[in-house]
Amino acid sequence: MKSKKVLFLALCSLVMAGLVFAGSAIAAEKYVVGIDGDYPPYSFIGEDGKPTGFDVESVQWIAEKMGFEVEVKPVAWDGIIPALLAKKIDLIYSGMTASEERRKVVAFSGIYWVVNQAICVRRDSDLNMITALAGKNKVGTQRGTTAAMWLEDNLVKGGYLSKDDLKLYDNFPLSIKDLENGRVESVMFDDIMVEKAIEGKDMKIIGTISTGEDYAVAMRKEDTKLQKMINDGLSMLMKSPKWLELKEKYDM
Ligand code: ARG
Repeated sequence: MKSKKVLFLALCSLVMAGLVFAGSAIAAEKYVVGIDGDYPPYSFIGEDGKPTGFDVESVQWIAEKMGFEVEVKPVAWDGIIPALLAKKIDLIYSGMTASEERRKVVAFSGIYWVVNQAICVRRDSDLNMITALAGKNKVGTQRGTTAAMWLEDNLVKGGYLSKDDLKLYDNFPLSIKDLENGRVESVMFDDIMVEKAIEGKDMKIIGTISTGEDYAVAMRKEDTKLQKMINDGLSMLMKSPKWLELKEKYDM
């Protein structure tokens, strides 16, 4: 009698273990998506405290269609590529330019947006592109961005802009705040972001630099399966009504 009970219990636990095993075998794979939490409308923290935005909703849609799970995690922009390489995150989806320099260390998806660099000043400023960028005036932008790299490579190294006049911020909104406060005389950044940031503010765009930058999703070079899923999902998204819906929702 007793041994029958033991046998029954043993069988039960075997079945349960089997179920748990089967459960984990069919569970969708989960990827951690790194974003800049201060990059509206692409990625930001919503009123409910959860990450959202054009890029965040894009990756959530792609994940659902392609059958994987995502966890969206804000990461300091300046260290976002090191975080990807260290496997703290699996994707970067936050208005990242697929630059030649970055292509040496990470892989990118297909392109989903194209930007150039815009320079804005306060509305009452009489600065032009030359005096703003190479006239002993302070220029602000976000640290670790293509804007910062362009200014360093073309103006600081060339001796047109002093290193002290290039003010680098942890996020883009901080640079706009300092332009408002008069701590910098101009801000250079991705045009779509500048256009959005100056809406309703006493600021104007004085010019653009045609850098022709492509926004794409970054992943580790060895993650070719993930790259294919993102590419397939992204091209599906860009052909779907959801793409237009997102553009409308975020006014882009
Ligand atoms: N496109 C520029 C870059 O890749 C600026 C991106 C800033 N993105 C962000 N999420 N802060 O460097």
